[in-house]
Amino acid sequence: MGSKDKLKRFAEMETFPNVFQPTMEEINSGGYHMKGKWHKEYFKNDNPIVLELGCGKGEYTVGMAQRYPNKNFIGIDIKGARIWRGAKTAFENNMPNVAFLRTRIDFIERFFSENEVSEIWLTFSDPQPKKPNKRLTSRMFIEHYKKFLKPEGIVHLKTDSDLLFESTLEQIKEYHYNKLFSTWDLYNEGINTFDEATKDILNIKTFYEQRWLKEGKTIKYCKFTV
Ligand SMILES: C[S@@+](CC[C@H](N)C(=O)[O-])C[C@H]1O[C@@H](n2cnc3c(N)ncnc32)[C@H](O)[C@@H]1O
Repeated sequence: MGSKDKLKRFAEMETFPNVFQPTMEEINSGGYHMKGKWHKEYFKNDNPIVLELGCGKGEYTVGMAQRYPNKNFIGIDIKGARIWRGAKTAFENNMPNVAFLRTRIDFIERFFSENEVSEIWLTFSDPQPKKPNKRLTSRMFIEHYKKFLKPEGIVHLKTDSDLLFESTLEQIKEYHYNKLFSTWDLYNEGINTFDEATKDILNIKTFYEQRWLKEGKTIKYCKFTV
C-alpha cells in the first residue's frame, strides 16, 4: 500500500466513532480515560467484553461480533492501516458491539480495569523467535492480562507457528495454567470435537491465516485459563 493510501486511511479513521487512538500522553497520565468505562460509556450495556490482540484487519473481532450481538468486541493492534479495514466494515454495518483500539499491547493494562474483560483471542500473533518475552503468551503478557481478565476468562490462541504453539504449551505447563483444549492440526482433527457454533467461529480465516494456508501450513489452536 502506498503512503498516500495510508494517509487517506489514517484521516478516515479519525472520523470513525468506533476507533480509539490514544496518544502516549493519554496512556501515561495514570491510565487511559476509558479504563473501567468501556461498558458504560461505549457499549452502553453489561455484555461480556472479548479482546482480539494483534487483530490486524480484525476478522475475528468483526466475525464474532456478527455472530454474537450479545457480546462486545475490541480489536487491538498498533497498525492503523490494518485496523482501518475492520473498523470501516463495523462502522458501515452499524455494529454497536465493535470497537478498535490502536495501541501497543505492551501497555494493555492501562486500558482495562479488574474483571472488565471476559475473553482474549490471539490470532496469528508474531512468533518472536528471538524475543520470547515479546510473545503474546509469554509470562510477562499473561501477567498483564490477569490484571483485567475475569478469573474464568479464556485465552484462545490460533497460530501457524510451531515455535509459538510449543512455547505456549510449555508456559501453560510451567505456570500451571488450565489447558482446556489443544490441537496441532485444527482443521483436520481438532475442529471435529466441537459443536457447530464453535466450529463456525474456529473456521473464521484471518488475512494472515489465508496466506499460511495457501503455503500449506497446518493451523494450531489451544484455549486455556490463567
Ligand atoms: C502476523 S499479524 C496477524 C494479524 C491478524 N491477527 C491476522 O491473523 O491476519 C500480527 C499483528 O500483531 C500486531 N502486533 C504485534 N505485536 C504487537 C504489539 N506489541 N502491540 C500491538 N500490536 C502488535 C502487528 O501489528 C500485526 O498486525
